[in-house]
Amino acid sequence: MASSLINSHASSQYGENPVKKGEVRLNEMGSEVVEGYTCKPKDYDPNRAIMHYKTLLLLCDDERCGKAGKDNRAAHLREIIKDMGLNKGENRIKISRTGCYGACRFRQVCQVTENTQANGNEKNNAIWLKHTHQFSDDQWKDIFTKLSEDTVLTEELDSEVFIPMKVYE
Ligand code: FES
Repeated sequence: MASSLINSHASSQYGENPVKKGEVRLNEMGSEVVEGYTCKPKDYDPNRAIMHYKTLLLLCDDERCGKAGKDNRAAHLREIIKDMGLNKGENRIKISRTGCYGACRFRQVCQVTENTQANGNEKNNAIWLKHTHQFSDDQWKDIFTKLSEDTVLTEELDSEVFIPMKVYE
């Protein structure tokens, strides 16, 4: 029988920590995970819709950004999002880890994207945050609140947190 019930993404990192015998774990889609895997669902449905998100944060976890950040920073941020009740529903914030963007000088890089196909806020789409490994939990909570309330980040946060972008000839 079940000895624990936890969210796989809150406790795994790239295939580490597979489900052990007797453990019941749910993946990010709410499906029970097969023993020996970190996210493979027991009841596989190839047509199952993916879970809606309003905001997707793409957090670089490659060599240099990963070293700058805390161990499993993405999992830590997911826990904060869960505590805030923003891990599901209309205003869900999803966090995914990425490889190197070629912008390591700004580590730990985080790209904010908004689901403009649904209820995402266009004004918060394609915004890049820098040195996010230096953000406190309270700063992240403030950002998550602003994103969920559709507050425009560039109007509210210090310009120092944003990565500038330009066209090079
Ligand atoms: S390792 Fe993150 S941008 Fe290069």
